[in-house]
Amino acid sequence: MFPRAGLLNLMDKKTKTLLIPALLLALIGGCQARVNDQLVGGGNIWPKLDVEVKADSHIEVRIDEILSTMTLEQKVAQMIQPELRDFTVEDMRKYGFGSFLNGASGFPNNDRYATVQDWLDLAEKMHQASVDSSLDGIDIPTMWGTDAVHGHNNVVGATLFPHNIGLGATRNIPLIEKIAEVTAAEVLITGIDWVFSPTVAVVRDDRWGRTYEGYSEDPDLVRLYAAAFVKGLQGQAGGDFFAGQHVISTLKHFIGDGGTIDGDDQGNNKSNEQELFNIHAQGYVGGLTAGAQSVMASFSSWHGEKIHGSKYLITNVLKERMGFDGLVVGDWNGHGQIKGCSNEDCPEAVIAGLDILMVPTKAWKPLLENTINQVELGIIPLERIDDAVSRILRVKLRAGLFDKASPANRVLAGSVDRFGSENHRQVARQAVRESLVLLKNNGNLLPLSPNFNILVAGDGADNIGKQSGGWSISWQGTDNKNSDFPGGSSIYEGFAQQVKAAGGHIELNIEGEFSRKPDVAIVVFGEDPYAEGHGDLSDLAYSKDEQTDLALLKSLKEQGIPVVSIFLSGRPLWVNAELNASDAFVAAWLPGSEGQAVAEVLLRDKQDKVQHNFSGKLSFSWPSSPLQLVNKTDRDYRPLFPYGFGLRYGDLVHLPSDLPEEFGLGSVDKKGISIFEGKPHKLLKMFLTSGKKDVAIHANTQVSTGIHYRTIDKMVQEDAFRVKFFGQESSGVKFVSIAGREKELATLASNSSSISLTVKTDSAISDPVWVVVKCPATITDSNSCYTAYDIADELRSLPPGIWQQISINLSCFSKYSNSRVKGSAVSLFELHAAEELDLSISNIQLYQTAKTNSTQCNSVMNDTVTDF
Ligand code: BGC
Repeated sequence: MFPRAGLLNLMDKKTKTLLIPALLLALIGGCQARVNDQLVGGGNIWPKLDVEVKADSHIEVRIDEILSTMTLEQKVAQMIQPELRDFTVEDMRKYGFGSFLNGASGFPNNDRYATVQDWLDLAEKMHQASVDSSLDGIDIPTMWGTDAVHGHNNVVGATLFPHNIGLGATRNIPLIEKIAEVTAAEVLITGIDWVFSPTVAVVRDDRWGRTYEGYSEDPDLVRLYAAAFVKGLQGQAGGDFFAGQHVISTLKHFIGDGGTIDGDDQGNNKSNEQELFNIHAQGYVGGLTAGAQSVMASFSSWHGEKIHGSKYLITNVLKERMGFDGLVVGDWNGHGQIKGCSNEDCPEAVIAGLDILMVPTKAWKPLLENTINQVELGIIPLERIDDAVSRILRVKLRAGLFDKASPANRVLAGSVDRFGSENHRQVARQAVRESLVLLKNNGNLLPLSPNFNILVAGDGADNIGKQSGGWSISWQGTDNKNSDFPGGSSIYEGFAQQVKAAGGHIELNIEGEFSRKPDVAIVVFGEDPYAEGHGDLSDLAYSKDEQTDLALLKSLKEQGIPVVSIFLSGRPLWVNAELNASDAFVAAWLPGSEGQAVAEVLLRDKQDKVQHNFSGKLSFSWPSSPLQLVNKTDRDYRPLFPYGFGLRYGDLVHLPSDLPEEFGLGSVDKKGISIFEGKPHKLLKMFLTSGKKDVAIHANTQVSTGIHYRTIDKMVQEDAFRVKFFGQESSGVKFVSIAGREKELATLASNSSSISLTVKTDSAISDPVWVVVKCPATITDSNSCYTAYDIADELRSLPPGIWQQISINLSCFSKYSNSRVKGSAVSLFELHAAEELDLSISNIQLYQTAKTNSTQCNSVMNDTVTDF
């Protein structure tokens, strides 16, 4: 896009004089064109927000004064944010960075066991170096940013709250504000000024690895929570705003991170602009109105353009239309992902409107130098730099950083007694109790008497790391021991304390063995910790390969022991089998360091009274199939437990224990299920078979002996395929097939009654043209046979060159043994012609009901009629 600064340095002055204005014009023109394209009448979508923090003329005057004294180098240094592991206190003294961060797993002295005092000492040193003007000639205080996303989670001994998904279930807005206040206090104790939270993603596809960082799938709830959390962190505008015990908040990740296709982390969001506002912007509406002072750009893209490089979204929408006057920080080398940029060199990000570039690794130095260079060369306008620095200074002035004492001398600094204090943990325990959602309580098994003989099993029972999830001391949260959470408690410990005090008997055994047959077994299991893209899934089935938890639940039940499941997870997952094998089932999310609070809800007290009833309500609907992923606003979306579901003690709700357990493509309802719609269904693969050779189809055009496959356009680009078979059957077996794994397809095959294909014939048809479907149970008892139907007659009846829909009643299929796909893979569709064939196909659907009346095998209709 831009000539790199290095290249520009090599040009002579005359070339630069001619070239640079032309480049700038091209850039401005390019941006303008894009903006106009995207807007298409969208001018009214983004409202001017009535932000509660008003412009302050004293602050604005001070900004101008400071700015007027600054050199270009000093200004750009304000915009560079290096990471703890890649710069030193001496670098801070020399360059005067406006801010710095510790990324997840970044600790003072690289020591994950760094004490509160170590964190504070480093904050003080960095601050002193930043206000030391001896080398860089400037004394602007730096600010330290950290990911306090569920409490001050990088620091050993902090109070770790439930991850946001659990907080979403509490529906307790004042509690959210309180949690933010406690978080701010613990952050301040360590001398840190700025936190990268709250995450206000509105998650639309729970396969996303960051689902648990979101409060809800509901934009309205996210808007309310965002406002409350920002107020808790920063204080109330016009009230205790940044008074004493507050820190700067960050709304992240702007914008649409929760709505990427397939829930891909850092993926592409294709919402239209109205949806972008209605769904994904609501956290910003709430949080910015409450006065959030920073916004972090998202790694993701909107319609293929990286947000970090989107001048339209960052400058035009966020800053100009919505009226945000704080700062926009980039994510972890996110600028380097913009087309044409690298981590070291990215004028595009600055021009788009990023005010601070988060630049971990040693890339900060070349990025600093290149950016200075690009301003000198006129590639980045100086006004943009002045705007960015003004925003940074505005935030620092509002937060009082210029006037406050140094970190070690501030309110709360080093108050070790308040760090992870009992008061703070009480707030976290309340959050844990209120976040628990009771999904099943057959026979009112819960609450349990503390006098019972209780077995506690499962690998999450005595595992604070597992119950805390990612972003817990380390980034992925995978390498923690219970001793890494001093002051915290495991779920088992909570039960043990109370049962022992009440005179009951309790035994902990991960594998579920026991010395005395228990009255009840509590099994704590669920997802192992993960963060960001490491947690992305292809479907929502819990533990589909290793079903050790399920085996444990079943074996306890077989022994006649009532089973209570406590499920730890960062998202709702398809757990039908585990639900069936449990008498009671609690969604506990990722409760954090205060596991003991779980027992405060599940156990009665010594007087046999309920201590705390369940109050948690789902803030994410719970899937009824592993592929119930998105379309939460679709009226056909029928979750197992809807948004807002949550039982209370005494509710007489009996959940049947025969929920479907097959990992299938989902239920084949009236609407049918697509085997192929432009591409094969996610769980299926497409193959070309010729002779003995099967090849998975990857390319647009693929040729095997006697068979030619290519994608074609029906309505949109490449939404159909055309296949040609050459030569006769005697020259070798030829198939196109769409297949998947047996266990994933069983329900589908048995629930289907008809198949329909949208096809176009391109030449004369000879007999036979077999369509093969794994035989559905409606036709035969066997689950491993194949049935076939010769569609040659139907094809011949079609007008050539016109798309038509053929539907065949599966009861007309007859037994067929020539299927290609063997072993544990089965095909849901095969096309097999004995002679030459030239056929185009755009859609293949299975339906639950027969498409035709039972006496008729087929129907042929214009393909625009898709439902029946
Ligand atoms: C995450 C951000 C986080 C940043 C700094 C990135 O990987 O996406 O949410 O604030 O790292 O740790």
